[in-house]
Amino acid sequence: MKNVLVTGGAGFIGSNFINTILKKRDDWKIVNLDSLTYAGNLENLKESEGNSNYNFVKGSITDKELITSLFEKFKFDYVINFAAESHVDRSILGSEVFFTTNVIGTNILLETSKRFGIEKFLQVSTDEVYGSLGPEGYFTETTPIAPNSPYSSSKASADLMVQAFHHTYGLPTLITRCSNNYGPYQFPEKLIPLMILNTVNGKKLPVYGDGLNVRDWIYVVDHNLAVEMVLDKGKIGEVYNIGAEREMKNIDIVKLILEKLNKSEDLIEYVKDRPGHDRRYAIDASKIKTELNWKPKFDFEEAISKTIDWYLENKNWWERIINKEYLKYYDEQYNSHEQVV
Ligand code: NAD
Ligand code: DAU
Repeated sequence: MKNVLVTGGAGFIGSNFINTILKKRDDWKIVNLDSLTYAGNLENLKESEGNSNYNFVKGSITDKELITSLFEKFKFDYVINFAAESHVDRSILGSEVFFTTNVIGTNILLETSKRFGIEKFLQVSTDEVYGSLGPEGYFTETTPIAPNSPYSSSKASADLMVQAFHHTYGLPTLITRCSNNYGPYQFPEKLIPLMILNTVNGKKLPVYGDGLNVRDWIYVVDHNLAVEMVLDKGKIGEVYNIGAEREMKNIDIVKLILEKLNKSEDLIEYVKDRPGHDRRYAIDASKIKTELNWKPKFDFEEAISKTIDWYLENKNWWERIINKEYLKYYDEQYNSHEQVV
């Protein structure tokens, strides 16, 4: 039996990880530690509730005493750190909580892991730590770290701290850097769910700048299968990029959603660009493919249709979210979009 601390497991990717892994592995006892920020939602984990290998603890990765008591009690073999402030636009509005959670929180997990001793520490990172690409080329694991937003610089700082703990103390660490995820339970501030819900609700679709920024899309289940594989078979101390070779311009994603929902492109509204907006992300995932034999299982066209259907069928889930005060506040502060075209 492995005792596993999963942090941030009530968020989009972490909840999918827990729901998937509990069905696959009855030799894992998972403690999900999540502070339930605006992005954390226990409804995402309904299917795992009641599983005897699953425990939820409400709390922050920045709470040293709590983390120590959890390590004392559960004697973790693995730590998988999904917990983070994850949204770039919010980090532009205010960066402090990004530093606190993403950097200090990760440091506390590392310190505690070192003190108690663990088998493996996996840091869930992002391709955004590499900065921005021009029209050519790909991010490899040796691409220099060059983050541009407060969010990505906090994630890059955490990655460097993880690597320092491996180098200095021999902590058995692994880092994954994945591209943009989509799928069920993604908080509707991110591009794909926001555009689906705005379309369904007859609202304008705010496209930043010229809409030609490129993101490299992967279905959340494929990301998580890769995380599991890196944890099982990855070489300690190493970084693994994860991506599904599906680059898309933002405007093309938006048009695709409109087409699938049979709505007019008149809903598109070009708005003021995100400050410091990274132009293009594209992952070279050949290391994880050749060394670990991972490959994505989901076809983009099918998975995006599945995702759209999920939002159509789960109105209760998103209605509760979009009616919340904090989202209205955020909308007013950031998404009071200035139309530019
Ligand atoms: P999310 O915002 O949906 O979820 C984050 C979760 O972390 C929430 O449940 C939140 O309550 C929790 N959390 C936040 N601060 C916490 C704290 N101090 N202590 C404990 N829990 C806390 O994010 P996501 O999209 O699921 O991303 C998960 C991880 O994957 C993040 O580390 C992110 O950087 C990384 N990542 C995301 C993507 C993507 O496309 N969404 C791509 C690559 C990597
Ligand atoms: O690349 C991985 C990263 O992907 C993760 O590390 C982050 O946690 C995750 O939030 C995501 O970051 P992005 O900034 O790429 O995702 P977002 O959904 O915010 O935006 C995707 C693209 O769409 C980006 O170029 C900005 C643009 N956009 C976004 C929104 C919300 C718009 O044009 N309009 C919008 O309303």
